[in-house]
Amino acid sequence: SGPYLFASLLAGYLLGAIPFGIVLTRLAGYGDLRKMGSGNIGATNVLRTGRKDLAAATLILDAGKGAAAVLLAGWLYGPDIALMAAYGAVLGHLFPVWLKFRGGKGVATTLGVHIAIAWPMGLACCAVWLATAVTTRFSSLAALISMASAPIWAWYLVHDVQLVQFAAIIAVVVWFKHHENIRRLIKGEESKIGQKGKPRV
Ligand code: G3P
Repeated sequence: SGPYLFASLLAGYLLGAIPFGIVLTRLAGYGDLRKMGSGNIGATNVLRTGRKDLAAATLILDAGKGAAAVLLAGWLYGPDIALMAAYGAVLGHLFPVWLKFRGGKGVATTLGVHIAIAWPMGLACCAVWLATAVTTRFSSLAALISMASAPIWAWYLVHDVQLVQFAAIIAVVVWFKHHENIRRLIKGEESKIGQKGKPRV
C-alpha cells in the first residue's frame, strides 16, 4: 500500500496547507495577518482583529481540513492510511508550500485530526484546551497543555500505540512552533484571548 500511503500524505498535506486565517482576513480587507499581533495565521491571531466571526470560521475551517483529510483517506483506504493523511494535514498547516513553509502552530488542525481519528480523544483534548483557556485566558498555554495531554488520552481512551506515537510526535512539533509563546509566557508578556492586536513592527 506504499502508493496509497504517499497519496494520502500528499493529499493531507495539500488540504492542510490551505491557510484559512490568511484567506479570510485578506478577503475581509484586513491585509496580511502575518503583520498583526503574534504574526501567526491561526484563529487566535484572527481574533486580534476584533472579528469573532472570522476567528470562529478560521477555527472551524482549520480543524475541518484536518478532519476532512482523515475521514476521506479512512473512507477510501482504511485507518492505517488515514493516519498518514493526519500527518500530512498537520505538516501542511505547519509548513505550507504557499507561505514559503512558514505556517501556523497546528492547534486547530490537530484537534480536528484527533476528533476524526478517535473522537473521545479529540473531545478530551478540546476539553483540556477549554478548561485551561477559561481559567488562564492564554490560548497558547491551553494549546501546550492540550497537546501534551493527547498521548495520554490516546493510551487510556483508545489503547492504540500508533496513535500514542502520532499524538506525541505532533505534540513535540507543536511545542517547538510555540517557542515564542513559551518565552512570552515565562516573561509574563503573553497576550490574553481577545486582547486586541497591535501591528507588528
Ligand atoms: O493556536 C495558536 C495559539 O496557541 C497561539 O496563537 O497567535 O497567540 O501565537 P498566537
